[in-house]
Amino acid sequence: MDIIALCTPLKELVMQAGKALPLSRAAYTANTLEIDDKAGKANYVTQYDKQTQDFLLAGCKKLVPDAVLIGEESFGTGERLPDAAEFARSFVIDPIDGTTNFIRDFRHSCISLAYLENGVGKIGVIYNPWQDECFFAVRDHGAFVVQSGQPAVRLHTASTPLSHCLLEFGSSPYYPDLQKKTFSILQGLFPLVADIRRSGSAALDLAYVAAGRADAFFEMRLSPWDYAAGQLLVEEAGGRATRLSGEPLLYDRACSVLACSNRLYPILLEKTNLLA
Ligand code: IPD
Ligand code: CA
Repeated sequence: MDIIALCTPLKELVMQAGKALPLSRAAYTANTLEIDDKAGKANYVTQYDKQTQDFLLAGCKKLVPDAVLIGEESFGTGERLPDAAEFARSFVIDPIDGTTNFIRDFRHSCISLAYLENGVGKIGVIYNPWQDECFFAVRDHGAFVVQSGQPAVRLHTASTPLSHCLLEFGSSPYYPDLQKKTFSILQGLFPLVADIRRSGSAALDLAYVAAGRADAFFEMRLSPWDYAAGQLLVEEAGGRATRLSGEPLLYDRACSVLACSNRLYPILLEKTNLLA
C-alpha cells in the first residue's frame, strides 16, 4: 500500500466528516441532539457519533476494501476488540473524540482515524472542525498540521524541562475505580511541573503533545480509537507513547497511556510509577 498516496483521501474523508457536524448549539437545537447512555459513568453517544462513524467506515471500505474496520460505536465499553496486529490492514476510528465536549458545545472535540498494517500505525489523522485544524502523520515521513488550507507545518514535540512542563491528563471518567490512582499521580506531579490541563479529548491531547503545545499526557485507561492516530503523531514528532508501565500500547483492549517528548519520557515513567 502506498501510504503517502492513501493519506490524502483519508484526510479529505475525515475533514468532510468533521465539516458535516453541527458546530454550534444553534445547529443542535435545530437538529435535536439525541443523547444515549453507554456503559460506565457519564459515557454518552449521540446520533452524530453514529452517523459520522457510518460515513467514515463506508469511506475507508471504498479506499481499502480488504481492511478490517474498528470503530468505537461498534463495540461496548471494555469489550475485547479484534486485534489490529492480526490483520494485514485495519482502520481504528473514533468518530467523535470528546463527545461530552460536543454535547456541551465546548468546541474541543475531533475525529480520529488511524490506518494500520499488521498492527503498526501507518497513517494517523486527527481533525478538529471547530478550529479547522487537521493533524496528520505518515510513518517514517513525519507529523504535520494544516489549518484552514494554509501550508502544512511540521510538528515536533517540545523539549521543555520538567519544571516548565504543561502536563495534560485524562480523568478516565467512565471508570470510577481509577479516580484515586489518577489523582494521586496528578497530586504528585503537579508541584513538579508548570501547570496542568484536562481538555476532554484524548486524541487532541496527543496531537497537542506532538505539536509541542503541551509537553506530556497521561490517562489510566483509554481505548485504541482514542490513541491510535495520536500515538503515530507523537512518535513521528519525535516523542514516545506507551502504557504507564512502559510496555507498548495495546490494540485489542483498553490500556493506560503516557505520551511525551523523548527527553521527559524516562523521568515521567519513573515518577508516575512511583506515584501510582
Ligand atoms: C473520551 C475522551 C476523554 C477521555 C476519555 C475518552 P470519547 O473519548 O477522549 O478526554 O478522558 O477517557 O474515552 O468517549 O469522548 O470518545
Ligand atoms: Ca468517541
